[in-house]
Amino acid sequence: MARRSKSSDRWLTEHFADPFVQRAQSEGWRSRAVFKLEEIDRRERLIKPGAIVLDLGAAPGAWSQYARRKVGKNGRVVASDILPMTELPGVEFVPGDFREEAVFGEILKLLPAAQVDVVLSDMAPNLSGVDVIDQPRAMYLAELALDLAGRVLKPKGCALIKVFQGNGFQELVKATREQFIRVRLVKPLASRARSPEMYLLAMQYRLV
Ligand SMILES: C[S@@+](CC[C@H](N)C(=O)[O-])C[C@H]1O[C@@H](n2cnc3c(N)ncnc32)[C@H](O)[C@@H]1O
Repeated sequence: MARRSKSSDRWLTEHFADPFVQRAQSEGWRSRAVFKLEEIDRRERLIKPGAIVLDLGAAPGAWSQYARRKVGKNGRVVASDILPMTELPGVEFVPGDFREEAVFGEILKLLPAAQVDVVLSDMAPNLSGVDVIDQPRAMYLAELALDLAGRVLKPKGCALIKVFQGNGFQELVKATREQFIRVRLVKPLASRARSPEMYLLAMQYRLV
């Protein structure tokens, strides 16, 4: 059997001691990420009953689980990921790499223009630890998510997009401000302090 490295042992110890991991397990959520969305949604009331929600980078599926509960029987949740996701009742799933036009097109087919209330993107590339590689990959995913949001959101719709501070970040914030009336950056408690991730919260999409 392959031996685990010291750093993976440390990661596993930290992971299982993490109160958000323990809470997610006891409450039946698919990942601790749910508490990031829950905190932001509690403050900002993003996801309302009857809403149409698009969840990008959805696997293993905690945000989709949460969105499904919030939108209720009259709402709709469409999720997409490059990884497979175990089926979630009431969630439509588009598999594939979001950078590919075919996947982008498949999502657009399911969600015609100007009908979506909330676009969520928790997409993050596999991090290599080398900033000059990771940062452009992360920025590209965030830019694509913003681009898709501009195509599917209703006027006054909102978007919550994971971003990493670094090269290209200020330009993305600027582009977001041109499309939405209220834009801010949030770092929920469940987001690990050592992680450079933040969430770009963009509210009140201006349909131009
Ligand atoms: C932090 S996880 C999302 C966790 C999720 N929000 C949840 O609540 O369970 C990031 C996800 O982004 C996905 N991802 C990364 N690059 C992607 C790409 N190019 N296309 C689609 N999904 C991608 C990963 O496969 C991963 O599942």
